[in-house]
Parts: sequence; C-alpha cells; structure tokens
Amino acid sequence: MAAALYMRGIGVVHCPTTLLAQVDASVGGKTAVNLTAGKNLAGVFHQPRAVYADVGVLATQSEEEYRSGLGEVLKTALVAGPELLELVEQGAPGLTARDPATLAAIVAACVRAKAAVVAADPLERGPRRALNLGHTFAHAIEHAAGFGRVPHGIAVAVGLGIALRAARELGLLEDRELPGRLGRLMGRLGLPADLAELRSSRLSDMPAALSPKELVRAMRLDKKSRGGAVHLVLARAAGRLDLEVPVDGALIESWLAP
Ligand SMILES: NC(=O)c1ccc[n+]([C@@H]2O[C@H](COP(=O)([O-])OP(=O)(O)OC[C@H]3O[C@@H](n4cnc5c(N)ncnc54)[C@H](O)[C@@H]3O)[C@@H](O)[C@H]2O)c1
Repeated sequence: MAAALYMRGIGVVHCPTTLLAQVDASVGGKTAVNLTAGKNLAGVFHQPRAVYADVGVLATQSEEEYRSGLGEVLKTALVAGPELLELVEQGAPGLTARDPATLAAIVAACVRAKAAVVAADPLERGPRRALNLGHTFAHAIEHAAGFGRVPHGIAVAVGLGIALRAARELGLLEDRELPGRLGRLMGRLGLPADLAELRSSRLSDMPAALSPKELVRAMRLDKKSRGGAVHLVLARAAGRLDLEVPVDGALIESWLAP
C-alpha cells in the first residue's frame, strides 16, 4: 500500500514469508487497510513487479498463522476446481508436516490458479469475485470479534463452511458430497469447520458470546453489501461458483444460530 501511494506509485517486489501471503495475498495486487467501519475499506490495486516465495521459511511460522494459510489454500482449491482440491486432499499429511516438496507443489498450484483468475479480471469487475468465496462471513467474524483476534485464514475456513451451508439452504448446491468432504479435509488440516468449533479453538481468541445478529450487522458493512441484502459468493461445486447471490440478512442469521 505504501508503494502504491508514495509518489503516486513506485514498483514493488513481494517476498512473502507466510503461507497465506505465498498462496494468496502476494499475488493479484490488492492492498488495503482496515477502518473502524470495516475490513479493507481503504485500499488500491497495485500489482507487484515480481513475487519470490521460498517455502523453506514456513518452518518457523506459528501454528495459528500457518493454519490460517491453509484456510486460503482450501478457498483457492474450491474456486479452482476438483483437480486442486484432490491435490490438497492427497497432500494433507505433507501440508500438516510442512513437508517442503508438498508445500512447493501446492503453493505453486495455488499461485497458478489465483494468477489465472486475476489475469482475466485484474480490477475485480466480474470473475475475480470468486476469490471472495467465504470472505463475507470471514470479514464479519474478524470485524465482530475485533480485528486481530481471529487469524484471517481461520475465519475464511469457517466462512467456507458457512458458504456451503448457504448454497445448500438456497438449493444451489449441486455437489451434495462437497460439505462433508470439505469438513473432513478441515479436520485433517486442523482447521475449525464451523462457528462452534471456532469458539472453542485454541487457534483464535473468538469471544464466546458473539451472536448471529452481531455477525450479520458486520456483514452489512462489507463492501459487497447493498441495500438490505448481503451479496454472497457461493459454490455449487468445486470450480462452479455463483458470484453475486443477494440474501436477506434475517435468513443468514438463522443459518448462524448455534
Ligand atoms: N491482498 C490480498 O489479496 C490478500 C489476500 C488474503 C489476505 N490478505 C491479508 O493479509 C493479511 C495477513 O497476512 P499474513 O498472514 O501474511 O500475516 P502477517 O504479515 O500479519 O504475519 C503474521 C505474523 O507472522 C510473522 N511471520 C511472518 N513470516 C514468518 C515466518 N516465516 N516465520 C515466523 N514468523 C513469521 C509476522 O511477523 C507476524 O507476526 C490479512 O490482513 C489479510 O486480510 C490480503
């Protein structure tokens, strides 16, 4: 963000040192800061000249930050399609062990998948919105919990689970096995699969009392919310997404109830 603002923009090269940044944040040029009113509300697009990622540095990441990166790996797999999802399932033991060869293969596959989406729509006018799968829920969790209490990718993992539930409730889900499959994969990767698990997880500092009403209020502040409705990205199947599904806040509240 500093590079984008200084002298109205100078070149920048990213050397991401977290799994989340290697698979997601370093690619695509989106940069922003949070305002009190909501997450990422002041920001710009500024593409890096290059990105250098060395998976060796991930050995020293904290447990919670590393698992947060795994949340974005899962999102990328759901957006990209069955092939990447299978690669992540096969690589789950290596990912948990932070095996460098597994990480190199999966980081590269995630970057290829994200770069393809971004290249087709750099300014997020259309197809790039797919990368926000799970994020309306995730941003609401991060915001309502208080920024810094729930790592971003952990909130994304929970958001993916809620997005699949939303797709099922709205009759959009085509791959009926996907929620169970994702839930099992989250378990293997040590990620909380729903709000109840998030509340008791040692990976976050989520306030136990956070209510569905507070979460939906935070969702309405999201950049993608318009009028009374919240606009959601939902998955029918891995790689098959609906990019703008308007849903009434009260309905979402009912899905979030314990
Ligand atoms: N721009 C995008 O497209 C995009 C996409 C996803 C997420 N994000 C944003 O990225 C942010 C999270 O970034 P992040 O996960 O890279 O976290 P971060 O940069 O905040 O780093 C997390 C912590 O890990 C430490 N750390 C970093 N690398 C380490 C290493 N190799 N070993 C030991 N410690 C290490 C850092 O010092 C810091 O304390 C969130 O605010 C999220 O919203 C942006």
